[in-house]
Amino acid sequence: MSTHNGNTQTTEKSTDYFVHESAYVDLPCKIGAGTQIWHFSHIMQNVEIGEKCKIAQNVFVAAGVKIGSNVKIQNNVSVYAGVTLEDNVFCGPSCVFTNINTPRSAFPRNTIDDYLVTLVKQGATIGANATIVCGHTIGRYAFIGAGSTVTKNVSDYALVYGNPAKQVGWMCECGAKLDDFEVDTATTCKACGREYEYCAENQIKRKE
Ligand SMILES: CC(C)(COP(=O)(O)OP(=O)(O)OC[C@H]1O[C@@H](n2cnc3c(N)ncnc32)[C@H](O)[C@@H]1OP(=O)(O)O)[C@@H](O)C(=O)NCCC(=O)NCCS
Ligand SMILES: [Zn+2]
Repeated sequence: MSTHNGNTQTTEKSTDYFVHESAYVDLPCKIGAGTQIWHFSHIMQNVEIGEKCKIAQNVFVAAGVKIGSNVKIQNNVSVYAGVTLEDNVFCGPSCVFTNINTPRSAFPRNTIDDYLVTLVKQGATIGANATIVCGHTIGRYAFIGAGSTVTKNVSDYALVYGNPAKQVGWMCECGAKLDDFEVDTATTCKACGREYEYCAENQIKRKE
């Protein structure tokens, strides 16, 4: 395995991404054009990162993790094995992922089979200092408030916060809160005009 830092690196796919001289990228990795990796961050081998991502300061990405395009990872976030971030995900500063549900120092559980999967779907936001207990899926465009502890799956477009995180409403793709609405009804975002309708119990979708 080789490691590079600085901004002169090459990979299989592209050479036009940026790695600050204080950051480490363990090769091989696939990193898309326009992605920036800032101070003191460490990307392990076999990671795949899409285009135009911003990986801020002191971020760790474990071997084999897949990250989509236009993902923003703020300072002090570790993306452990078992975590996948789809396109346009926002990870607020110091948010915490986990990958082992019942860790014990004297009984190591650190093979890939021990890890519980966390999937953060397209467009979701994780607020600052939130903790995601492993084994859960955060739906498309879901919004996790700052400091929350997520212990269950989160529906697409759901706004959740608190410890344990509870759903308190719905959030538009644009990041504005949607007015409360009921089963079999629809609502329009006051900020951007996108329309949503209920499609199943506690599930909404963009209106066609
Ligand atoms: C969740 C959020 C979007 C606001 O949602 P909101 O429903 O509009 O919240 P409001 O400010 O109207 O507050 C409503 C209630 O929820 C509480 N609340 C708001 N955010 C909360 C949070 N993250 N955790 C717990 N409670 C929260 C408020 O204290 C208030 O409680 P009250 O009714 O008892 O007074 C915002 O608080 C938040 O957490 N944003 C994330 C910020 C962040 O992490 N950014 C990262 C990049 S810098
Ligand atoms: Zn909107």
